Amino acid sequence: RIPPGVVAAGDYEAVARERLDPAAWAYFSGGAADEITLRRNREAWDALSLQPRVLRRVAGGHTRLELLGRTLAHPLLLAPIAYQRMAHPDGEIGSACAAAAQEAGMVLSLQASTPMEDVARAVLREAQRGPLWLQLYLQRQRGHTVELLRRAEAAGYEAIVLTVDAPTSGARDRERRAGYRLPTGITAVNLAGVPQPAAAASTAGSSVLFDDLLQSAPTWDDVEWLLGQTRLPVLLKGVLHEDDARQAAALRVAGLVVSNHGGRTLDTAVTTAWALPRIVDAVGGALPLLVDGGIRRGTDVLKAVALGARAVLVGRPYVFALASAGALGVAHVLRLLRDELEIAMALSGCATLADATPSLLVHEDA
Ligand code: FNR
Repeated sequence: RIPPGVVAAGDYEAVARERLDPAAWAYFSGGAADEITLRRNREAWDALSLQPRVLRRVAGGHTRLELLGRTLAHPLLLAPIAYQRMAHPDGEIGSACAAAAQEAGMVLSLQASTPMEDVARAVLREAQRGPLWLQLYLQRQRGHTVELLRRAEAAGYEAIVLTVDAPTSGARDRERRAGYRLPTGITAVNLAGVPQPAAAASTAGSSVLFDDLLQSAPTWDDVEWLLGQTRLPVLLKGVLHEDDARQAAALRVAGLVVSNHGGRTLDTAVTTAWALPRIVDAVGGALPLLVDGGIRRGTDVLKAVALGARAVLVGRPYVFALASAGALGVAHVLRLLRDELEIAMALSGCATLADATPSLLVHEDA
């Protein structure tokens, strides 16, 4: 059930911290290295102030939007988060059902602890559900990537989200201090039989990272190849530089997720609230832009939309809710964020998301 006293998405953090064992807590909550980007992601949304409009007609307003040919009820999607059965037995199916119940989108992690087919089967028939997408990492052998694409297409996934900001994982100091390891019974089941790079011993004058692990790190050529391998729209997740956004737009990628992986890959990378308007300036209008990192309140969602995001992904808040109350918690977090978004729109004079423009935002200290 919903834990007592939880009235905002952020309230689940403390509950999850109590319920999870310390190693799992380190995995779900942590960021890379000194966690500077993790912290700044949040601070960047807070540093933006809303300059509301009053006396505008907001009656009859709504949070609807168009995305990849569909009308969505609101701009919230669950970000891909690996190994959700480590948070709660409801796992990815719980999250997907909660998303479907709240008309939210769901991006399943390739490193999910539940088969992608099972997740799809649980929600595809729900009439009100939001989009169901699969996050992908390119595999060393193209054949394996193609197999994953065929499975995603057959299972009913509606888009592929290629994560491009993690050719290797970040320096996860918090996880190492906590002695984090995957518990037995939790695995990346969708990658069973697909060889994953294992760290080899380095010899003098060589780098394990550059000589071995990164031999198959994806490049723009691979993105172009991937676009030719599937009928599904392909979005890139993890773009922070406007030049990369331009290059992606030129390749006719279906959309971008402006993301720094929630501060888990390159520490001290720029915040997404900072990068988003620059990317909007570079490619705005050419393709839909989504954003994630530090979104915790309906006002954060409104700010992201005002900066030019079509939709937002929410990460840790829902996995903390999953750990605290299973699928019910995830549905609750989505409901809270939807309600807060509507309140924020009403109080700033926005009847629709299209009314949220950069003129709604100021940096008071600038
Ligand atoms: C992630 N993220 C992630 N991204 C991805 O593309 N594939 C993945 O498997 C994962 N796994 C994952 C696990 C955990 C525990 C976290 C916290 C994050 C990144 C995720 O999709 C998203 O970009 C961030 O979580 C967004 O930031 P917030 O909302 O958590 O601040």
